Amino acid sequence: MTPQTNEPHHDAAIVHPPEPGDPLWWRTAVTYQIYPRSWADSDGDGLGDLPGITSHLDYLRALGVDAIWLSPFYTSAQRDGGYDVADYRNVDPIFGTLADFDAMAEKAHGLGLRVVIDVVPNHTSNLHAWFRAALAAQAGSRERARYIFRDGRGPDGDEPPNNWRSVFGGPAWQRVDDGQWYLHLFDYHQPDLNWDNDEVRAEFLDVLRFWLDRGVDGFRVDVAHGLVKQAGLPSWQMPPADLRLEGTLPTNASPYWDQNGVHEIYPAWRALLDDYSARTPDHPRVMVAEAWVQPLERMALYLRPDEFHLGFNFDFLECLWRATDLRAVIDHSLRSNDLVGAPTTWVLSNHDVVRHASRLGLPQERPRPNGIGPDDPQPDAVLGLRRARAATTLMLGLPGAAYLYQGEELGLPDATDLPAAVRQDPTFRFTEVSEMGRDGCRVPFPWSREAPSFGFGPSDRSWLPQPTVYGELAEDQQEGVDGSTLELYRTLIRLRAERRLGAGGLAWLDGFGDEVVAYANVDGAGRRTVVVTNLGAEPVPLKGDLGEVIVASGPLLESRTLPADTTVWLAR
Ligand code: GLC
Repeated sequence: MTPQTNEPHHDAAIVHPPEPGDPLWWRTAVTYQIYPRSWADSDGDGLGDLPGITSHLDYLRALGVDAIWLSPFYTSAQRDGGYDVADYRNVDPIFGTLADFDAMAEKAHGLGLRVVIDVVPNHTSNLHAWFRAALAAQAGSRERARYIFRDGRGPDGDEPPNNWRSVFGGPAWQRVDDGQWYLHLFDYHQPDLNWDNDEVRAEFLDVLRFWLDRGVDGFRVDVAHGLVKQAGLPSWQMPPADLRLEGTLPTNASPYWDQNGVHEIYPAWRALLDDYSARTPDHPRVMVAEAWVQPLERMALYLRPDEFHLGFNFDFLECLWRATDLRAVIDHSLRSNDLVGAPTTWVLSNHDVVRHASRLGLPQERPRPNGIGPDDPQPDAVLGLRRARAATTLMLGLPGAAYLYQGEELGLPDATDLPAAVRQDPTFRFTEVSEMGRDGCRVPFPWSREAPSFGFGPSDRSWLPQPTVYGELAEDQQEGVDGSTLELYRTLIRLRAERRLGAGGLAWLDGFGDEVVAYANVDGAGRRTVVVTNLGAEPVPLKGDLGEVIVASGPLLESRTLPADTTVWLAR
């Protein structure tokens, strides 16, 4: 136990230095993730679309974010929410047209918002022209060589080539008519590409060029750690979850995640982006890795100067609501990224995880749940929201880049009462419903309490039913309302920009006790913003010369006392 002193000492060593000069936009940006199916529906079919996004971009300008990232809107049978891409150079009719994309990007740019789009290189859809050609061709053909086809084991070849399991449950192999098998680390509608194949490498560079020429500012790269598989595709026994989650086993212990060979792919992507950036110096392009890799030192390899600019910090997202854990993960993240000169990319929610307003309302234990169902223990909504606001207030004070997921600024919880019949995440089916999957965080956005579908679109249709509480939390119920989660986010984002917190340095502050995370964000000129989060049950007095409160995630108790599950920013 650190003794709780009255005077926190403020001169703790800087663990992360401030950015020199005026950093490029992406190093400090707040990016808002839009899940296009669920943000705004312009035509009333119950599915969000690009014109819907265009018509709501002003809202994001007012929120104050710097950029948007769009999950896939490409041609797709939506077997995995669009992460099964059938044509990388086109827009699916449910989302609109390429012209709608151009109009959306133009409006966004006009508002000063950068546009980041998703690219899905690990696998295509089974409906992609390449995969259809592969099915029509012979074993050993050039068409099959773009994917990972193998003969099966056993005398008749009717056992899969190895024991790998799909991330969504079940075997990672599917047999085709002539008896061969193909690998799919995800749904069997998502065959894995063979990244040893030069045609595959050339194709993706061309896809990047296609979108760069349309003016996008960057890419979020899906499953960036999965593209290369160990030679010989050896069978492998997945260790029990607790071993993995304690971080004792690096991700690359598996033969398909985080193989060293992935690092031979991205330098060519980076060179391409750098080439575009050099031609338009006021328009630097960026790529951000979705790589579920541990430990953080291996994650940092993706962030070397000739690879990704950014990579989501999932250790932070997965951290339990415990002060010692949070402090350790923040410290470790900053230090390991500093070794390669990369900013840290903070994130708490996205379309793949239980929203943090629900996650933090559950007992804090591992493993992290993959969805919550009606029969599961339910999150404590009040506690969850309180902690979520505190967590975001802690996060947005940190130096680096930050990603927000649509609806978190309203404090939306997951929908936990979705009936089985409406659930669409393949995980739900392939795990034989032992995992609920990710539908609960993908429910359409509520814009207005009284409108049909809470203003998601002009009709009452919504591809997943919206819980009643989404009406109470609708955007129009929070706009301009003091103390609402929306106004909290606006204030945080505004102050973060004004005080240049993204470019700041970080020094830990001691003396508040073990259940508090406290740091100073210090800029190059020595200007300090103090951030204090109380994760304990007891109120914590804010003693010492910390400055005045400039924003708080919830009301303070009298005489500058910080209640449980609350974060405050102070400045002189
Ligand atoms: C990524 C996406 C997820 C998708 C998976 C397969 O993890 O974020 O939604 O299911 O990749 O593409």
